[in-house]
Amino acid sequence: MSEEVKKFKITIDGQETEVAPGTTILEAARQIGGKSVPPAMCYYKPLETSGGRCRTCLVEVSKGSEADPRPMPKLVASCRTGVMDGMEVKNLNSEKTQEARHAVTEFLLINHPLDCPVCDQAGECHLQDLGYEHGLERTRTEFERRTFEPEDIGPYIKLHMNRCILCARCVLLANQLTEEREHGILFRGEQAEISTYLNKALDNDFIGNVIDVCPVGALTDRTSRFASRVWFTKPMNASCECDKCSGKVVLWMKGDEVIRVTTRQDQYAESEEWICNSCRWDKKDTKFWNIEGPRHIDRHSVISLNHYQKPVDEPVLLDNPFAKQLSNKDEHQAEEQK
Ligand code: SF4
Ligand code: FES
Repeated sequence: MSEEVKKFKITIDGQETEVAPGTTILEAARQIGGKSVPPAMCYYKPLETSGGRCRTCLVEVSKGSEADPRPMPKLVASCRTGVMDGMEVKNLNSEKTQEARHAVTEFLLINHPLDCPVCDQAGECHLQDLGYEHGLERTRTEFERRTFEPEDIGPYIKLHMNRCILCARCVLLANQLTEEREHGILFRGEQAEISTYLNKALDNDFIGNVIDVCPVGALTDRTSRFASRVWFTKPMNASCECDKCSGKVVLWMKGDEVIRVTTRQDQYAESEEWICNSCRWDKKDTKFWNIEGPRHIDRHSVISLNHYQKPVDEPVLLDNPFAKQLSNKDEHQAEEQK
């Protein structure tokens, strides 16, 4: 008879949940959901050993555990800290956490260009969202931003190193998914940069997935550059018979045109299944796909605008009768779609 594993109780912002031993605070928060989930710029669940680099997920542990109730002396990275039984954590309810998140956002933006109006990632960029929530109105630094010479890494992927926040997701993905990794982080500290070894093009079968894991616009799809703002496109779930990958994708359409093909991602923008380069780049036409229907985007970002359903966690409407009217109409339409 298998022995039942005792679950650990954890309270985050006053909400209690139970998780298996070994679960991180971030994953426990995701189990609770809503606004208690810390943002994550480097952690990416499908990638082993991701996390611990950006510090956006810092939280305050006000009670270590039932056995040792002392608070932890410093804020901890929730993506890398395991839950203890009886642990109490403050995310939204902690002034220290919020202050640290403002500081981390400012730090990430010290070198990141403010080029959202011309960046293909705008509307689905995690740093943009973080900036809106925690950023300062203006920069406090006067020195020049770090810049890099443009580097050509092949015909399909565009590397814009000035935007990179060195989260290392793309390097982990290449390590774990492709047979031959040809890029990595070169140099150290302020000089550190993502580059290809010997300037080789990235042409492994699954390397296109680096575009989907990049939280900012440092790696974008060259074949759909400047084709449309993401909020003007319609995401559709589609599938095909593919002998390399699951063939389950999202087609981002403009009229009948397929602008780009990506993995299917959850509310944290984490890919459900990886897709091969051939599905991503060789099948940009509806004739290759069995279109299943509109893709529900429940990420709370600009990307959700103009789409079919509103994010569950939508902002509270102001006391505006016209806005309320619109909201009632949307709810009515959603009911009809069910
Ligand atoms: S290119 Fe993107 S995914 Fe790679 S380290 Fe930079 S920000 Fe992260
Ligand atoms: S998401 Fe935890 S340190 Fe980056």
